[in-house]
Amino acid sequence: MIKFAPSILSADFRILGEQIEETARGGAEYVHIDVMDGNFVPQVSFGDPVIKTIRPCTSQVFDVHLMVLHPERYIQRMADAGADIITFHLEAAEDPAAVIEAIRGCGKKVGISIKPGTSLDAVMPFVRDIDMLLIMTVEPGFGGQKYIPESTDRIRKMRAYFEENGIRADIEVDGGIKRDNVDVVLEAGANVIVAGSAVFAGDVYANTKSFSEHFEEWNAERA
Ligand code: DX5
Ligand code: ZN
Repeated sequence: MIKFAPSILSADFRILGEQIEETARGGAEYVHIDVMDGNFVPQVSFGDPVIKTIRPCTSQVFDVHLMVLHPERYIQRMADAGADIITFHLEAAEDPAAVIEAIRGCGKKVGISIKPGTSLDAVMPFVRDIDMLLIMTVEPGFGGQKYIPESTDRIRKMRAYFEENGIRADIEVDGGIKRDNVDVVLEAGANVIVAGSAVFAGDVYANTKSFSEHFEEWNAERA
């Protein structure tokens, strides 16, 4: 099943709660929340106080994408703030197995993310122990970048590997996904789709609905 995860990095923060509600009305099951520390990536975004503030706005799944060094330091506070899925970057973790354990210890779902230049082999030792693999389709750090075409092959390879080996983890994609290129990642095998600028530029409800309806059709055709 395809899930949709609008990234609030591109939202209008003056009316963040209302915009999240619009994505829920538009049919998005997840909210993608980009936490940036200004070290792992250049930008600083927001942290657990914001997550805690928006938690009562919606019952959508909170999909927290940690772009931070030393991710182990932030697990408990993300969990307490209301995260449902906590994804950390493989490149940022000294001991990925320990971070996986820490997230599980909080009773949350575990995601690992890899940057476009990180070899797929590097994540292989962990794929059996996670709920979601986030394959970045731009360099993490900013919204509004262009999809990196080489990503398609990486998604395809991981989906094939998961199928051959009975691995049930979701494959999420993040960066440069628009309504007019989303079929490329769906066909390659991604099933959790993040979009930031494509949702929050313009009519949030209509943009979300356009993606969600497309995913419903996609799900129905393959049911
Ligand atoms: C980038 C973030 C993304 C970002 C995507 O580092 O992880 O989630 O918000 O934005 P778009 O969809 O505009 O590329
Ligand atoms: Zn993200």
